[in-house]
Amino acid sequence: MKNNKTLILAHRGFSKKAPENTRASFRKAVEVGADGVEFDVQLSSDGIPVVIHDETLERTTTGKGWVKDTSHEKLSKLDAGTHFDPCYKEEGVPTLREVLEIVENMRVINIEFKNSRVRYEGLEERALALVKKFNLLDQVIFSSFNHYSMKIIKNLESNARTGILYYAKLYQPWEYAANLGIKNLHAHYFSIDSQMVEKCRENGININVYGADKNYEIEKMIKMGLNIIITSSPEEAMRIRKNI
Ligand code: G3P
Ligand code: CA
Repeated sequence: MKNNKTLILAHRGFSKKAPENTRASFRKAVEVGADGVEFDVQLSSDGIPVVIHDETLERTTTGKGWVKDTSHEKLSKLDAGTHFDPCYKEEGVPTLREVLEIVENMRVINIEFKNSRVRYEGLEERALALVKKFNLLDQVIFSSFNHYSMKIIKNLESNARTGILYYAKLYQPWEYAANLGIKNLHAHYFSIDSQMVEKCRENGININVYGADKNYEIEKMIKMGLNIIITSSPEEAMRIRKNI
């Protein structure tokens, strides 16, 4: 069976080779020729979209406290690299603008809003404005575990591509997505089965999975003909895709 159509996105940039969600990790993803990247966006205290996974700073940076309480200038000066390797100590928390400058030529750019724990007023509007400024509306897929946020994006821009991000095995998720007018399911790979794939195809819903990082998991997802795999092993995934 040949399936060269599943697109491969580097999760938080190429986060196995460089610290997650840093400029270095996005440059590495571009260098290895991944089809795209996935990353996490929140708002700084001064309302700038910034790229960082956790709502607090301790795990990935030398800072303390909340992203929402820290200015983008202060975030940019934190060390967001040493937790991975001291040679990356110059990597700060990047802004969305800085990341888009690196990845703008990639085929797919998945912007995940991290806005379930903290509700960032205006996050959707500000991120969307930047995406439009870069003329990237066709390449970007917005996603979030907060599905209200996807409705906000859709209301702001009906042509925006959006994804329902989830972990649990939802009941008839293709119907849920269709009801929301959303074309993409961003599902954990645990929740995928062949009946669901068939139903999504029948209903014109794309399935994009995350969490499949081991070779056998990646191979299984590609063989199922899914649209996108968001993985921490993009190089391996591209090799596997080539050999299927
Ligand atoms: O967008 C897919 C995936 O990144 C969601 O989980 O925790 O890695 O942001 P997390
Ligand atoms: Ca994410």
